[in-house]
This record gives sequence, C-alpha cells and structure tokens, in this order.
Amino acid sequence: MSLVIRQIHPHFVGEVSGLDVARALTADELAAVQDAIDRHAVLVFHDQVLTDEEQIAFTRGFGAIEDSAGGHVAKAHERRLGAEMNDVSNLGMDGKPLGRDDRKRMFNLGNRLWHSDSSFRAVPAKYSILSGRKVATNGGNTEFADMRAAYDALDAASKAEIEDLVCEHSLIYSRGSLGFGPFTDEERIMFRPVRQRLVRTHPATGRKSLYLASHIGTIIGWPVPEARAFLRDLTEHATQPAFVYVHRWRDNDLVMWDNRQTMHRVRRFDESEVRDMRRTTVAGDAPTAVQAAAE
Ligand SMILES: [Fe+2]
Repeated sequence: MSLVIRQIHPHFVGEVSGLDVARALTADELAAVQDAIDRHAVLVFHDQVLTDEEQIAFTRGFGAIEDSAGGHVAKAHERRLGAEMNDVSNLGMDGKPLGRDDRKRMFNLGNRLWHSDSSFRAVPAKYSILSGRKVATNGGNTEFADMRAAYDALDAASKAEIEDLVCEHSLIYSRGSLGFGPFTDEERIMFRPVRQRLVRTHPATGRKSLYLASHIGTIIGWPVPEARAFLRDLTEHATQPAFVYVHRWRDNDLVMWDNRQTMHRVRRFDESEVRDMRRTTVAGDAPTAVQAAAE
C-alpha cells in the first residue's frame, strides 16, 4: 500500500494513509512526509501502535529531538517518561490521574490555551509529534489554527505594522493568565522570558505566518496593556472557526504539526479517566529574534 495524503480542511491538515510509522521509513517516504508537513502544517496518521522507542526513531527522521527539560514544573524524579518524551497525559508516577489540585495538573491546564509548543524557548520547536496511546472517551479534542491563513487574511496595513514586531514569551505569562502560581525562584529563572518575532517566514515554502501563543506577555517597545489588548485581537482573528481544525482523537492516532505555522489547544475532558498522550518534539534550528542581554 503506498503513501497517500488527503487534505481534510480547506486551509491545511493532511490525513496520511499507507504508512506504518513504527518501521524505519524509506528516504522517499521521509521526503514525502517532510513535503506534506511543510505544505499542510498538520498531519494525521491513524492506527499507529507505537512504543516510545519507535516514536523517538520516527521523530529523529525530521531532526534532533528537543530536550523536554526546562518546560515544566515537574521535577526530574516526578517524570513518568524519559527526557526525549513530553508527558502530555493526566497521569502521575503511579499511572493514575493526578488529583484535582495537584500542582503538575494545574500547570498542564495551560495547554487549554492557544499556544505553539516551546515558543518559550530561545530556540523554539519545529515539529511536535503526539501519540494518543489512550484517548479521552469524551472531549479532549485538540484544535489547530492555521497561522498562515490567519496572516494572509490580515489587511495590508496590519501586515506592515506587525512585520518587525518582537514579542516576549514565557510559561510564567501563560500559566499566570490562569492564576497559576506562585513560581519558585528556580522556576522563575528556568522560565525567564525569551524573544520571538511575531511574523515568521517558513523556510521551505516562503509563506508567512503569525507566531502567536498564550506564552506572550508583551511586545517589545509597547506599553503592556496595549500589547496584550492587541495580541488578544490578533488571537481572536487567528482562531476564528474558518482557520481551525478540530481533531477528535481515536486510540493510536499520531498527529504531527509544525509549530512555526500553527497554534493548538486541548479541550476539556473527564480527568477521572486515564488520558495517555505522549509527545516528541523536533528541535528548531535557530532563534527567531535577538535575545535581550543577560542581566
Ligand atoms: Fe502543546
């Protein structure tokens, strides 16, 4: 069976069939997936029963794996999975759902806000690859917004105004907006804000996109309330239903997305159930902006 990619949304999202991700891909298959992710920005693969090792091997086909350290309040000894995996489940070390007021769970609630993975890192992530090992029975959809379509739909004056803007991103801003806190001194250092361009150009396709995320706290050079009001407007524009694909998970779905061209968020689900989602992340190549001088 040969590899087939079918676009399932007017703007983006390719559904891939005829590929068994668990086995080593041929050079042609890798090139086809690479081309598809560049063009469609989100790819959906069904019925992919994977071990962590197989998921890691598939991920390596697209570049170096981003170290998950520094992106969570969970300490090393509280991590269920290895450093090459991001645990996006609702589970503790005992394999049971985390308690309602568990600090790790409350931190994870930030994933319900629109974001781009690792935009809070100086070198932000390229691709995320999320395996639904055990999905929610009700809810728990992941929604994706096409930030290229959102950019294209702006008027010329808005495009000119935002072209060279640089934003400050931090997990402290996204979590803080939900009232999460307080952060420890160590966390404040770990989650120190980084700078990212608001408009990115995709290296393969040349398409521009809005690089938005709830991790943004301000625009460099703008008064904070003005920046936040403007970013809310832009986010509202970018996440209108026409630009959004809703992924309704089935067990063993694998979804791959390009964080440079999309935002995503998870929706509410019954957290008394096990939802075991495991993410690998392909590291980015370079910063998008010059960072502030170290204090
Ligand atoms: Fe995410």
